[in-house]
Amino acid sequence: IRKEGLEKIAACKDVNELQQLRVLYLGKKGPIQEVMKSMKDLSAEERPIFGQKVNDVKKLMSEAIEARKEVLESEEMERRIESEKIDITLDGQKPSLGNLHPLMLVQQEIEDLFVGLGYQVGEGPEVELDLYNFERANIPKDHPARDMQDTFYINAEELLRTHTTAIQTRQLEEFAKEDKLPIKVICPGKVYRRDDDDATHSHQFMQCEGLVVGEGIRLSDLKGTLLFLAQSMFGKERTIRFRPSYFQFTEPSVEVDVSCHVCGGKGCPVCKGTGWIEILGAGMVHPNVLTMAGFDPKKVNGFAFGIGIERVAMLKYGISDIRNFYTNDIRFLKTFSRFE
Ligand code: PHE
Repeated sequence: IRKEGLEKIAACKDVNELQQLRVLYLGKKGPIQEVMKSMKDLSAEERPIFGQKVNDVKKLMSEAIEARKEVLESEEMERRIESEKIDITLDGQKPSLGNLHPLMLVQQEIEDLFVGLGYQVGEGPEVELDLYNFERANIPKDHPARDMQDTFYINAEELLRTHTTAIQTRQLEEFAKEDKLPIKVICPGKVYRRDDDDATHSHQFMQCEGLVVGEGIRLSDLKGTLLFLAQSMFGKERTIRFRPSYFQFTEPSVEVDVSCHVCGGKGCPVCKGTGWIEILGAGMVHPNVLTMAGFDPKKVNGFAFGIGIERVAMLKYGISDIRNFYTNDIRFLKTFSRFE
């Protein structure tokens, strides 16, 4: 029995088969149990010797089964590892990563510049109240200045904001409540106007507003700030000039030109031969705007400026059609990955 059993165990190829062998040999109906039955026919002296022998065989076999089981299990594990092996030398597929939109690049560049000067970043809703977009910007209802910004109205009180000056008037109100001075905020965002889209007009575009309010703020502070902006964005050699202009919410108001970054001011097609490129509108915050927000214009004053993000992006990256920013042609957008 022993010899036959051990041979079978050694030849056994899988764990289930082994389990069957265990039942067969060591189970109640197995040959060993059968042999035990014959013990009763033996003499009292022979019985313990015989019993000892049978037990030895039993032990030997169950040990052999255990040992075989371990071998079989580790073989099985090896086979599994082998079959599930991953070939890490194979080339992977790189996920295609997106990159920042050119308008976002310009917005972030402006934000970074001004945050570096200690400004905070302010935001506001795109669906805005007439109150903040016009009234508080010193443009009352029925005032002809409203025609300068053809507006998408939602209803009599709400509209899609036409300029980031709406964020400015909200910020002013907030700071007046908290009575915190000076105010230094930069307010980027989307704005909307009823324009027919073409190469240089879009019914939706982006602006970035800057606002400083405190005591004794001067026009020369505005000029210094904008010179810093122009030189940071278009190169150290740039100069700027102020031209008188008109906005309801600033007095005096100026339009600001930067010397052409392409020809250096000599005259080229980009600056239409003038050497200058208009980049923003600005001025000293109108006393009415300060009063309506809750400040005393006799004690505080400030400057504000508004810059068109698309315009800056078109100049910086040499883009001739504003619609490129909004048609989401992936080939166009991908070219800006190198500016990140
Ligand atoms: N809000 C003006 C515009 O949309 C720009 C501007 C902002 C002018 C702040 C002066 C001061 O054109």
